[in-house]
Amino acid sequence: MSNAIYLIVFIATTVLISYHLWHSRLLPRAAQPEISVGFGIEHISDPILCHQLIECKQARGSKPKRLSIQKARAPPNQRLRNVFNIDNGFTSTDPIFVDKFVREASQRIKLGSLEWLKLGLMLLHTSRQWISVGFNTDSWKSRQCNSVPPSPPASHCSDKLDITSLVQVLTLKATLATVLKGEAENCPKDFEMLHLAQQINRGWIQSKINTWAGDDIRGIDFQHNDPLRTTLNALFPQAGPEQNPLNLLLPSFETMWRVVLRALLELKFQSGRDHPEWGKAIETFCRDPTKAKFEKRPTLREDLSTTADAKGDVQSNRGVEPSVKDIVMEALRLYPPTRRIYRAYEWEDTTAKYGPGNLREVEAVGRTSSKIIAADIEACHLRSDIWGPGAARFDPSRWMNITPDQKSAFMPFGYGVCECPAKAVFGPWMIAILVGALLSALDDDGWTLWCADDRVMRCLASEERLMMGRDAYDELKIFRS
Ligand code: HEM
Repeated sequence: MSNAIYLIVFIATTVLISYHLWHSRLLPRAAQPEISVGFGIEHISDPILCHQLIECKQARGSKPKRLSIQKARAPPNQRLRNVFNIDNGFTSTDPIFVDKFVREASQRIKLGSLEWLKLGLMLLHTSRQWISVGFNTDSWKSRQCNSVPPSPPASHCSDKLDITSLVQVLTLKATLATVLKGEAENCPKDFEMLHLAQQINRGWIQSKINTWAGDDIRGIDFQHNDPLRTTLNALFPQAGPEQNPLNLLLPSFETMWRVVLRALLELKFQSGRDHPEWGKAIETFCRDPTKAKFEKRPTLREDLSTTADAKGDVQSNRGVEPSVKDIVMEALRLYPPTRRIYRAYEWEDTTAKYGPGNLREVEAVGRTSSKIIAADIEACHLRSDIWGPGAARFDPSRWMNITPDQKSAFMPFGYGVCECPAKAVFGPWMIAILVGALLSALDDDGWTLWCADDRVMRCLASEERLMMGRDAYDELKIFRS
């Protein structure tokens, strides 16, 4: 009998130690490719290697020269300098300039409680008005814009709303009212904001295609982009030649709208249909944005405290529902706007020779090779060995039992010394407020999605993870059925 007890204790201890070792990364995990190559760029999807890569602490290969973070970050972003004429913390190699830029950005995103309240109410009012009047760029043009814009926006439709445009314009309005407060026109025209959002998106996509294809990127540079420059002049008439509003606008608006769009689609039309309480919590936060409302996990109705979802995964919710913060974190995990963080690495080219005792010696030969490596944030956020078999599913309740490995793999705002200043409050709160305002304006059940592109409709019907492309939902409309 006592032998049997010893055996059970021995087996239990072995299992526990193995589990601990597995977690401490000493034992190999289930095979997941941690390095892959896309467009000739090495992609890293091991969280610890990503941390090192982002902070420029280590590179794969022999003898990397450690570049400063500014020098490692700027080269992959040069395409943005050409397309948008920006000179900011992401493109400059001067540490003093970068530091000043980060401090200025951090200062601009500090909002007081009254400012958050006003922002929420303004966005609620604006989105309701846009949705009830109809998102018709033609009528906007005649009603609100006296000057004829340089070229008409790509798509509009009288009875259906462009959901991407709706999200983009609302996000831009929120960014102008906060990050660029006092610099944009007092009452920016809706049509011009839409136009700017579309120009930014187009420029971004074009720059990526050209850069990764190794093409000449001068063809689309800022100086030749009259529509973008004209719209900027209209929205920022006071800006001097040295003050490009895109320096601050790009890092804030560009990241924000894409996660807001996907969170809205998830909550209104996908997983959120089975969990109306998620959307309601976000709407409530938008009306009264406080720390308590953001972080508090509401108490669950007794009959729901242990639920089995459609796919059979039983989740112990310990009597509470996910907080607004949990919902936002899940949106950032599943749909990280910064999918990859790029760093340039340089190597001294070396030759190997053999010294006494056949010892290998390495000697620099005076040439330098360089390479761009990507920390694949999106891949880290989707690893099933870290996040479980439901890694590709939108499930805010996972944030109620987060493991140290999951915490370490979650990097939507970057990592370590160059982490985004909007990580703590501004980014997550702004996402919640924008999604809350839109959900509130689309409150009734009569809304349906429609897209001429069958692939988009099939993907939505499959209820799988939403598509990530910048232009994936450009043709998607919503209308009242
Ligand atoms: C959802 C919203 C946002 C996301 C997902 C996001 C994401 C990121 C990421 C991934 C980085 C690290 C880049 C790198 O290491 O190369 C970063 C850095 C940065 N972000 Fe954001 N960002 C967001 C909003 C904002 C906003 C609103 C601002 C305000 C202007 C901002 C300003 C910055 C700045 C200045 C840095 C550089 C920090 C440094 O080098 O120390 N971001 N952001």
